Amino acid sequence: MAQVLLSNVRKSYGDVEVIKGVDWQINDGEFVVIVGPSGCGKSTLLRMIAGLETISGGEISIKGTVVNKLEPSERDIAMVFQNYALYPHMSVYQNMAYGLKIKKIPKEEIEERVQKAAEILEIEDYLERSPRQLSGGQRQRVAMGRAIVRQPAVFLFDEPLSNLDAKLRVQMRLEIKKLQENLGITSVYVTHDQVEAMTLGHRLAVLNEGVVEQLGTPIEIYEKPQTVFVAGFIGSPSMNLINGKLDDEGNSIVLPEGGTVKLSKGKKQYKGQEITLGIRPEHVTLAKGKENGIEVKISVVEQLGADTLVHCTLGKGETKISDTGFVVRLSGIKTFEEGSFMSLNFADKHLHMFDAKTGKRIE
Ligand SMILES: Nc1ncnc2c1ncn2[C@@H]1O[C@H](COP(=O)(O)OP(=O)(O)OP(=O)(O)O)[C@@H](O)[C@H]1O
Ligand SMILES: [Mg+2]
Repeated sequence: MAQVLLSNVRKSYGDVEVIKGVDWQINDGEFVVIVGPSGCGKSTLLRMIAGLETISGGEISIKGTVVNKLEPSERDIAMVFQNYALYPHMSVYQNMAYGLKIKKIPKEEIEERVQKAAEILEIEDYLERSPRQLSGGQRQRVAMGRAIVRQPAVFLFDEPLSNLDAKLRVQMRLEIKKLQENLGITSVYVTHDQVEAMTLGHRLAVLNEGVVEQLGTPIEIYEKPQTVFVAGFIGSPSMNLINGKLDDEGNSIVLPEGGTVKLSKGKKQYKGQEITLGIRPEHVTLAKGKENGIEVKISVVEQLGADTLVHCTLGKGETKISDTGFVVRLSGIKTFEEGSFMSLNFADKHLHMFDAKTGKRIE
């Protein structure tokens, strides 16, 4: 059982704590994705699991063995990096075989494993080439091949696709997903790509300043973000977050820019409280006819073909060019006049509410 357990794992560089106590159970065969903004500690956490970084506190165990003091080579893991890290003077075959040779695995078995991995990744024809003679995508496959031949208990990926162009990234993303399913190897994958975060893993961990803000299935996190940070981070374009206040009965939300949002189910226990209201761009609709919508001024319209993004500002006041705070996503090609006003509806079932002080979700 290749379970990975993290308990109160910490890392400090000098006085600065960058990983602030992570507790985690990654199950056998599970694919977990870590997502978070630049500098939040994703690579540090992964490198600590790999053994490339010492840990300042807590415990990491792999397959039931505490690995805190074990060398990377003793941890039964294989890591794939963003920059491939292939040996330029070795052929593809030698690159893939190298780690096995070091481990003194018999030549025939090495040949067999490399051949099999090459078949899976469809790089059999390139085995004699040097990495220089390969495209970025092919190089990334070789890097994956090198990880696969080791038959590790755990795969660790650090943004393996971010050097590839958009189309290739989509293809490799699907391949990694299939590969992980077929091999069933416990995997931890770091990314800051929204789509990879949503689609690749069984579970997603949102990391913010060294703290796991939320751990759950991608859909759980999309539908019920537990904090304002997670709400604003997951989803593209980001969820609209606006300040508001529940009225004295807790029946509607009053927006400072003007307008109220009626709630079908009152929130008596929070009456009068300051909140942050969240609504995703794809959940905002145009108010029809005499509906009492929220007034906004349109600042910029972006037509993406499949969708139209309308950037606007709340209220009727004068706006500055930088005021593109609120985004509406409408399907299809829609035309609007920039500078004009429109009225919007926020469907009750798609509203998210957070305590303005703590940032925690209000149910
Ligand atoms: N060797 C080091 N010495 C001091 N600080 C470090 C060291 N390595 C990383 N850090 C700091 O630790 C924090 C986390 O870095 P880390 O590389 O884990 O971020 P990340 O989430 O992977 O970011 P990115 O998305 O940009 O790769 C950063 O603030 C970084 O500056
Ligand atoms: Mg990183």
